[in-house]
Amino acid sequence: MQTTDAQMLVLCTLARGPLHGYAINTAIQELSGERLGRGSLSGALARLEAKNLIEPLDELGRQRPLRLTAAGREVLERELQSTARITQRMFEAAVPDRIGYQERLAAMDLTRSHKRIMLDALALGPGHCAIDLGCGPGTDLAALAAAVTSSGSVLGVDNDPAMVERARARSTDLASVEVRQADVHDLPVADASRDRAWTDRVLQHVQDPHRVLAEARRVLRPGGRLVIAEPDWESLVFDHADAETSRAYTRHLVDRVVRNALIGRQSARLAAQAGFEVSAVVPVTHVLRQAQEADQILGLQRNAQRAAEAGYFSAQAAQLWLDGLAREPFFAAVTSYVVVAELPGWR
Ligand SMILES: C[S@@+](CC[C@H](N)C(=O)[O-])C[C@H]1O[C@@H](n2cnc3c(N)ncnc32)[C@H](O)[C@@H]1O
Repeated sequence: MQTTDAQMLVLCTLARGPLHGYAINTAIQELSGERLGRGSLSGALARLEAKNLIEPLDELGRQRPLRLTAAGREVLERELQSTARITQRMFEAAVPDRIGYQERLAAMDLTRSHKRIMLDALALGPGHCAIDLGCGPGTDLAALAAAVTSSGSVLGVDNDPAMVERARARSTDLASVEVRQADVHDLPVADASRDRAWTDRVLQHVQDPHRVLAEARRVLRPGGRLVIAEPDWESLVFDHADAETSRAYTRHLVDRVVRNALIGRQSARLAAQAGFEVSAVVPVTHVLRQAQEADQILGLQRNAQRAAEAGYFSAQAAQLWLDGLAREPFFAAVTSYVVVAELPGWR
């Protein structure tokens, strides 16, 4: 049996209970972002009724609401499962391993573009002592080491032992690089001992960003410079007919997934409050046009499922939303901010 998109939308809206014709179209608009044309809705209703997939509730006279028949419910479930299988081939259901995730991300053009801006802004020179706060698997250590040359030094710090091990393995050939396992809230580094500090997408995860910035201030010399890059997750947008589910996906990410989801817009203020002079804030909008690339960053399927479980939208809306993302030309965008912050020089 063939069900068109219009018929599928009708079946989905009736899955939660009987509805009148006009209410069906309102529910379709909520689910997909658009109403069906008059002819298209009545055609879909007539065909579904002819196939015995929906039926009127007789007892209510002329204004008869429609409901799914048992056969209709079966067809709906079968079709959703089959589109879900196609979508699942596109999107990852499992949580990726965190080292592979960071390494894949670091290799993507969109991450490299903000890292290039960060590196220019840090203005590293030969002989500088630099620190990478939350160095992860160490993907930035080589670039920092090249800029400070053999007369300088780079210290990578991360509190995750697996990240530290990977960062050390990556930098065995770099004599000026050292990696230590430590908490960025409490750095094992002497006061005023570093010229430059770099932190890329770490403050979004930490318990107390104020304290981390106070630590960065403590370890930097007067005249030292800190460069921060952080996303602002509320800026995440999708091009999807179902704009409400897109907004709810972003809301869930902000409310429940990322600890400090608004840190992008807050970093300049927090740096100023920690005693830095903020000399520049550079917005970097990452545009994602490949669904699979976006999925590697956003875990679309996983997080849509979590959002549905948390009541941000229904499981069916989630599935239709994912199907739409997998089927249509993809567009999503999110903005990060690179903040350049300096300490006053010696007086
Ligand atoms: C999104 S990753 C970014 C890694 C790296 N900066 C990069 O650009 O690839 C965040 C890193 O911050 C580390 N991290 C989070 N909280 C930390 C803390 N309190 N102390 C030290 N590292 C921390 C995590 O272990 C993880 O490696």
